[in-house]
Amino acid sequence: MSDLNHFLMVYRFGLAEINTKLDILAEELAHHGTGNPIEHIRPRLKTPASISAKARRIGCPLTYTDLRQRIRDIAGMRVVCGFVSDVYTVAEMLTRQPDVQLVLTKDYIQNPKPNGYRSLHLLVEIPVFMSDRMVSVPVEVQLRTVAMDFWASLEHKIYYKHSPQVPARLRDELTAAANDAARLDERMELLHREIHGGPPPVRPSAGHSSAR
Ligand code: GTP
Ligand code: MG
Repeated sequence: MSDLNHFLMVYRFGLAEINTKLDILAEELAHHGTGNPIEHIRPRLKTPASISAKARRIGCPLTYTDLRQRIRDIAGMRVVCGFVSDVYTVAEMLTRQPDVQLVLTKDYIQNPKPNGYRSLHLLVEIPVFMSDRMVSVPVEVQLRTVAMDFWASLEHKIYYKHSPQVPARLRDELTAAANDAARLDERMELLHREIHGGPPPVRPSAGHSSAR
């Protein structure tokens, strides 16, 4: 058990580093006058039970070396923003910091999942300085709008409740709701732009869904 705590410790530190970076961005940007692009952030550390469940699912041996290499979302940070443009702004500001190494981007906003799921996922590595060494810690950062977050939370609950068989009608209804949420995001973005100005959106119009 103390081994496990030791294993998880660096992930906690990695999350704390990312947390501080986001706090700084949020506070500084709030002072710029256009408002804080970050509504809230939520760090989460995968529980030992969910680490071992994922390891079993992907056929990963239960050794720390294997877990470290193959489970890249032990540290996760959810960043909920007001507008789609805020999502990309925050992602850009975070990943251009020299100590943040961007390993992988999955843009489920440009390319929503077939079920309608939208979010921008970044896998980043952040250096954590221990007493005698530096550890590069992977953190999965999920950025999304309030509307995307609302949808994802409900979808998660429905799947949890019905797992694994969600009736087809419910599935279709959920996907339609995701597209409605995307349209709402687009409308709010346009309103935001009219009020604050700024370049036209560069994203494809909401509502399409393209498989990954
Ligand atoms: P995991 O093994 O679950 O981590 O998935 P993955 O390695 O294929 O990564 P992916 O980027 O697809 O998803 C990672 C995380 O994004 C999940 O753990 C969820 O938190 C979130 N996510 C992805 N797809 C969905 C979805 O359809 N619905 C909801 N509610 N969340 C999702
Ligand atoms: Mg995951």
